[in-house]
Amino acid sequence: MKLQSAELPLPLPSSEERENIQPLVNQICAEIDKHDGKLDFTKFMEMALYTPNLGYYASNKAIFGEQGDFVTAPELSPLFSRCLAKQAEEVLSQLDGEADILEFGAGAGTMACDILMELDTLNCLPRKYFISELSSTLRKRQQTRIATYAPHLLDRVSWLDELPESFTGVMLGNEILDAIPTHRVRFNKNSEHEQLFVGYENNQLTWVGCKPENDILISEMDKTFEKFGQNMPDRYETEININSMQWIQKISRTLKQGLALFIDYGFTESEFFRPERSDGTLMCHYKHFAHSDPLTHIGLQDITSHVNFTAIAEVAFDNDMTISGFTNQTYFLVGCGLEGLLSEIDINDTKQFIRETQPVKVLILPDEMGELFKVIGLTKNFDQDLMGFRAKNLLERL
Ligand SMILES: C[S@@+](CC[C@H](N)C(=O)[O-])C[C@H]1O[C@@H](n2cnc3c(N)ncnc32)[C@H](O)[C@@H]1O
Repeated sequence: MKLQSAELPLPLPSSEERENIQPLVNQICAEIDKHDGKLDFTKFMEMALYTPNLGYYASNKAIFGEQGDFVTAPELSPLFSRCLAKQAEEVLSQLDGEADILEFGAGAGTMACDILMELDTLNCLPRKYFISELSSTLRKRQQTRIATYAPHLLDRVSWLDELPESFTGVMLGNEILDAIPTHRVRFNKNSEHEQLFVGYENNQLTWVGCKPENDILISEMDKTFEKFGQNMPDRYETEININSMQWIQKISRTLKQGLALFIDYGFTESEFFRPERSDGTLMCHYKHFAHSDPLTHIGLQDITSHVNFTAIAEVAFDNDMTISGFTNQTYFLVGCGLEGLLSEIDINDTKQFIRETQPVKVLILPDEMGELFKVIGLTKNFDQDLMGFRAKNLLERL
């Protein structure tokens, strides 16, 4: 998503919005009570985003685009998805027609629709285009999008309730890893590190720091502190996303042959745990304002954390995947032939030319999405070079 910092005060929800979210706030407070006044932040994030009918992604809010809270790359320009389609084509064509696509977290369905249309033009459609989507509201939006813009391809699309046992082909996820509920922690100089839970006091949700309770989290915290603790200031707050690591584990078990490609905003671990990032990487979005407080605007704002790509690569490697590529969004799109696609736009129709090329600047300029957004390519039983990493593979930075 395009990030804008909240230099102006965050807009307040309307009284109607406040009324609508009260049942969700009540459910969260009841959970806090059930857990002795402190709710695990992963559970809080899950409830705020995915509680049926009430959570941010489960409600009927606009979410994407100008009327919503943020804009993602596929919503900005179809050229993003067309580049991904070219990368998918390169892999699918090596797998002798026995391959599918599986997209995680398809949002408004724009990327699925544009990829399918491009692959149709390239005469390289997958057998099936599976979508794994947590939100039933968004599933319906995705169906409508494809039925409207590519009705002849709708039959190829299936929505999955569970990961298949085995999968051959291309897995794709744009801005899915940032949406996976994360743990939040605080490192203290005296080594009495804390896990940050959510509690409430005087009608306000608050952070509650306690001894960590989860063994996997404790072990990840120890490893992180050993590596980066020396330079961290006291009371250094950050995120450790063990759910995303476990999710990658599951994916690597499912992928038998092919590519899993994830695009998201984030850093390598040494950038992620830089001393000056002492308030962590949480990023919330409400009406195009980005800020770092997940305990406000519950159910009305998106809550995300930046991705630690080194952690993702390590889990993938430990689970028999090859880390075939890591680069930023600009290099990836260039590698997939962005320039060629741009050259197809008629420069003599100035208005149209500007309309189509302006959003591409947002995708590739370093102070927009070009540098912060990274792409990681994980493969199994697939040894070919991938075009998206040919312009520049930054694997050594992981
Ligand atoms: C920030 S949105 C990105 C949407 C879309 N990929 C795009 O780029 O516009 C995150 C999406 O991931 C979905 N999601 C989050 N966690 C998921 C999971 N574990 N499995 C499947 N979908 C998930 C959300 O419901 C939402 O559709």
